[in-house]
Amino acid sequence: MCIYKFDDAFMTTYRNALQEILEGKGYQVTVVDGNNDQAKQNEQINTFITQGVDALIINPVMTSAADTIIATVKSAGIPTVLINREPTADQMAAYDKLVYVGCDAAQSGTFQGELILDTPNKGDINGDGKVSYIMIQGDPENIDAQLRTEYSVKALTDAGVEVEQLNLTRGDWDREKGQTICANDLAQFGDKIEVVFCNNDDMAIGALQAIQSAGRKVNEDIYLVGVDALDAALNEVSNGNMTGTVLNDTNGQAAGAVAEMEKLLGGTTYSSGNQSVYVDYVKVTPDNVKDFMK
Ligand code: GAL
Repeated sequence: MCIYKFDDAFMTTYRNALQEILEGKGYQVTVVDGNNDQAKQNEQINTFITQGVDALIINPVMTSAADTIIATVKSAGIPTVLINREPTADQMAAYDKLVYVGCDAAQSGTFQGELILDTPNKGDINGDGKVSYIMIQGDPENIDAQLRTEYSVKALTDAGVEVEQLNLTRGDWDREKGQTICANDLAQFGDKIEVVFCNNDDMAIGALQAIQSAGRKVNEDIYLVGVDALDAALNEVSNGNMTGTVLNDTNGQAAGAVAEMEKLLGGTTYSSGNQSVYVDYVKVTPDNVKDFMK
């Protein structure tokens, strides 16, 4: 199993879930850390192939490397499940023993927008007729970051709500960057900021620290949403310090990835246009947050 980097809060939960399921089924699993370095991950894939592994589960470092990864596993004939970073259907069509398991990133963005639409003033806290927001983005090379950024705002505009983007900054899925970006934006735009959209929860937790240091109060004078439903975020939703989050279902995706791996090992092949398996995202609000807390 090749993970893009171990130092990522969501992928840590996800990889642990995968490892647990695989080991529980008696598979011998080796998990390697790509350190966010595609060249390093390419070497890891080649090493696994040389060692003669039966199957690979790969969380690519870069979506743009999908062609190379797919060509490599294809020439070795290794059944491969890609996770978390979705290549295009055309790229996957190159190899019939390859499948992608993940979520539809646009859906998570839409759900974030809906969380804001569900607030009493639909995000327009100061009543000036528009929702002024900052966007703290993940790694912009990543399709999840691109589609969450687009669809969170689209949900508002589709509902006829006027929006104003005060700033958009890449935070690379990282908590500390989320905090720094949000602190800078609060210093620059102050009360103008009504909504803080974060492409994931780890950045939202960082943003929350900045919001609290600035003396602002979530759900009273600012809204804050993330994605993933990390334990820390579930706590904050439950305490009212986050407006909501979206479950990025690690257990569902891990179970799906293992099931697809077993199908490939059993000889299933995939045809073009039919190589993505999706697990649904779920909106998490104070009303249902208890259902997701352990
Ligand atoms: C996203 C997740 C982020 C980050 C990213 C890594 O699906 O929401 O928190 O883990 O994957 O590619």
